[in-house]
This record gives sequence, C-alpha cells and structure tokens, in this order.
Amino acid sequence: MAAETRSPAATRRTFAIISHPDAGKTTLTEKLLLFGGAIQMAGHVRARGQNRRTRSDWLEIERSRGISVSSSVMTFERNGITFNLLDTPGHADFSEDTYRTLSAVDAAVMVIDAAKGIESQTRKLFEVCRLRDIPIVTFINKIDREGLDPLALLDEISSGLALDLTLWTWPIGMGVDFRGVYDIRRSRLLMPKEIRTDAFGRTVELADAGAIADLPEVESRIAEPALEMLDLCLDDLPKFDHLSFLEGHLSPVIFGSALKDFGVGELLDFLVQYGPGALPRATNVRNIEPTEPAVSGFVFKVQANMDRNHRDRVAFVRLCSGRFKAGMKLYHVREKRQVAINAPIFFFAQQRESADEAFPGDIIGIPNHGLLRVGDTLTEGEALNFVGIPNFAPEVLRRVIFSDSLKAKQLNRALSDMAEEGVAQIFRPVNGAWPILGAVGTLQLEVLASRLDQEYGLPIKLETAPYELARWVASDHPDELKRFVEANRSNVAEDKDEALTFLAKNAWTLNRTMEEWPGIRFLAVRERY
Ligand code: G4P
Repeated sequence: MAAETRSPAATRRTFAIISHPDAGKTTLTEKLLLFGGAIQMAGHVRARGQNRRTRSDWLEIERSRGISVSSSVMTFERNGITFNLLDTPGHADFSEDTYRTLSAVDAAVMVIDAAKGIESQTRKLFEVCRLRDIPIVTFINKIDREGLDPLALLDEISSGLALDLTLWTWPIGMGVDFRGVYDIRRSRLLMPKEIRTDAFGRTVELADAGAIADLPEVESRIAEPALEMLDLCLDDLPKFDHLSFLEGHLSPVIFGSALKDFGVGELLDFLVQYGPGALPRATNVRNIEPTEPAVSGFVFKVQANMDRNHRDRVAFVRLCSGRFKAGMKLYHVREKRQVAINAPIFFFAQQRESADEAFPGDIIGIPNHGLLRVGDTLTEGEALNFVGIPNFAPEVLRRVIFSDSLKAKQLNRALSDMAEEGVAQIFRPVNGAWPILGAVGTLQLEVLASRLDQEYGLPIKLETAPYELARWVASDHPDELKRFVEANRSNVAEDKDEALTFLAKNAWTLNRTMEEWPGIRFLAVRERY
C-alpha cells in the first residue's frame, strides 16, 4: 500500500537501539540520521552530545564523567515513513531509564559487536524486549574489522538468546579480507570504495550469490568459504516470516559496518517495508488501538529542564491513539482532572508540513512543574491507565544522611520530586527512620546527590544501608499483609506511590522471610496499575 493512503499511525516507526556500550550505537544513530536526511554531516550526534554536555553544566557529574544522562528523541523521514528513534543512555547504571524508554517503542535494533558477540548489557536489554515481545532487528556491527566467525556469531545469538534468526545480508570476508556485504534479497554486493570505484559506484548487481566468486575483486580464498557458509546458513535458518518477526520470535540479521555505511540503508529499507507502525497498547481496562479517534498517551520519561533557576520538567509522552494538536486539553487520569497542554514540544523532521500535530507512535514533550510523572496516562476523558511501565527492584540501597534538621521538610519534598522524575527510588521506613534510596546503579545515586546539592542547596551524604535487597509486598488477604507489616516494622518502607516494600538485610534473610510468610508475595518488579 502506498504510504500516503495509510493511516498516519501505520507510517510511524518508533524504535530504540539496544546494545552494550561501545558496540556502535552512537555511530549507527548518526548514520541512520544521515541516511534519513535529518543531518548533513557525520559527527553531528557526537558534536550535539558534547554541546549538550557543555550546556548542561548545571549537572556537574554529567560533565565530569563525560556521559550523557538524558535520553532524547530523533525524528527523520524516508520513503513516506516517519522514524522516531528514541535514544537511551549507554551506561548500565541508567538502565532503568532505558527500560522505560523501551515501553514506548514498537521495535528495537539490537547492535552486536562482531568481535564480541552478546555482552551483558545486550542480554539484559534483550530480555526486557522479550517481556513485551518487541520485534527486533539484529545488526552485527564492525565487520570491517576482524571479528568472530559469522556462523559462531549466529549460533551464539540464536542459542544464547533463544531467538530464531533469518539472514538479510551476509559478509564477504571480514577485517583485512572484507570485500563487501551481500544483500540477499536484492542479490547485490555492496563493496568498500577502496576496492571498487567504477561506474556502478560501490554496488554490483548479481544474478545470484554464486556470481560473487566470478568478481575479480574477490579472491577465491575469500569468496569460497564465505559462500559455503552462506549456503549452510540459508539451508539451516528459517525463511523470513513477517508475522513471526512482528511477534518478536524471528529476527532478521544484518551484517554491517555503521562506520563504513554498510547495512545502514538495508536496515532502514527493512524497517520501511516490514517494521511495525504504531502498535496497540494495553491498559488496565482494554487495549487501545492506534486508529481510535480519541487522543491517549502515557509518560515514559521525565527530564529536568536545563535551566537551574526554574525547576521545570519535560514529560515525554508516547501518543497511542488520536490526533494530538497543540493547545488541546487532556484528562490527567491520576489527578482526575483536565489539564491544558501548553507549549508542547514536537520532535519533527524539518520537512514535515504541519508541525503542530502529532499521531500515534509520535513523542511529544510537555513542559510542566511536576504535574506529570512517569507512568501517568492522558486521555480525552476515559479513566484508564496504560500498563507496562514497571519499576524494577533496586540493586543498590543507600541511607540518606542529612545534618540540617531545619531543612528536613525541604529535603523530603526534593526527594519526592526526584523519585517522581525517576532519578532514583525512595523508600520511607514505616517506623519514621531516614529514607532509603534505591537505584539500579550507584551512578544514579551520585547524580541525585549532586542535583540535590546544586539545584536545591541540600547537601546530603549517602551511607551504606543495612539492607541489600528490596521487594514490594502484596497479598490477597489484607489482614495478612497488616500482620506482616506489624511483625517487620523496622524492615518495611513505603515507596513514592505508598506501595509497601520489604527491605531485606541479604538474600538469606529474604528467603527465610518468604518461607515464613507464604501468604505474602515478594515482587522484584512492580507495575503501578
Ligand atoms: P556506543 O555508542 O555503542 O558506545 O559506540 P560508538 O558508536 O561510540 O562506537 C564505539 C567505537 O567503535 C568508536 O570508536 C567507533 O568509531 C567504533 N565503531 C563503531 N562502528 C564501527 C564499525 O562499523 N567499524 C569499526 N571499525 N569501528 C566502529 P572509538 O575509537 O572508541 O571512538 P572514535 O574515536 O572513533 O569516536
């Protein structure tokens, strides 16, 4: 179907790149923007990153560590399709941010370094995608360098992640022997310009893969093993099945080099042709179809504004249905009231004709002063909540130490603000002791402490907490839960949503407590709705 005759929701490709640091996410992002015409020159994303870092010197830590804490949205168009690429922080300590961003996408590109195979962060993020059956395209990067054998890589990915793979492109040699990437569907070889710079440019159309062996530029010692392995794989691996891809079971594999532009166009073409448009989203009441006329969406990220003097926040909202227009009023389900959406931020490519409306799959930024929290739902009046924006049990717990008791109230407010923004989790012991902060990584807590000092003038210290683990507790029997809280008062706290949490000294204590209280559920993941 021509893109123009499809619903706007069907022409959206909202996706994220998941990878282990250094696999090439930044380089691929940059090349996608370049191929999509959103930027003119490679180096832009990095330069922009540095700009942002210099600009955001309110966050000392961001600058001194040279990392970007913020995620943002990049939009570009190709062949009538609007791509919304949601950026995610690379550092593992901010993976919570990444998990939430993944709740807002319809597809993911998994970048794997050909020399390293699956790495820890790839696996973690893949598991999050799997929980939601997000369709995944696998991009095996850096094939212009020496890497692992392609067969070994495919085997590691498919058995390591229990994921079916199907071939999209194939490397002809790697490292110094790299002679190009074979585009299996179109039967053409994309060659490095150092090897071929004739009238065809770098692309050679071929009758079939076997014809590679006849090319003078590809020595037989390179062509033969590459073609043999390709035959083996084509025999062994399943054929492409669109539905299976959309259901998250089958991942097409693109061998490429983001740095040298191989596989980038093929990745975009794949997403244009087969990538999902905006998908239906589950709520606690019913599924919302992207074609429904009423506007709905949810907040998946809240980012503090750069301006230190105004404690503004920008809430990033993923639209799930309807046609959003600037100036609209929407129903804030948690607050149970209408709110005016003033000065929304649209992240559109310049070529978009009307830059004041957005469609399912698009992301809008809503400036606010704390009204919108991660997980909040906006609708045109219906009282429902989108689900699937989880909180994960923290892996690091610290006790807050603060000497200025006169400012205790201020500190409590500031901590609540930060928790609502999702910087870290806060657990307030029911016995009234100082709050315990929780995070996935320690860097998250350093950011929090640094911001409390700089933005609020509240210098805190963080001390090792007498707990290692936190589990949300629930029970089908309210009396049993009450008894549990009474019996464990010194180890029970409330999180920012007043959900009861058991703080365990260590894994052994947790297990023992679980055995002692079979009527209580101890949850490592909590959904607000
Ligand atoms: P990340 O965002 O996933 O952390 O990775 P990034 O893109 O920053 O890439 C990490 C390193 O790998 C960079 O080198 C980058 O140039 C290199 N790289 C990315 N894709 C390819 C590829 O296809 N082939 C080759 N050979 N290298 C690739 P660096 O030296 O760390 O940084 P820089 O000095 O190049 O900026």
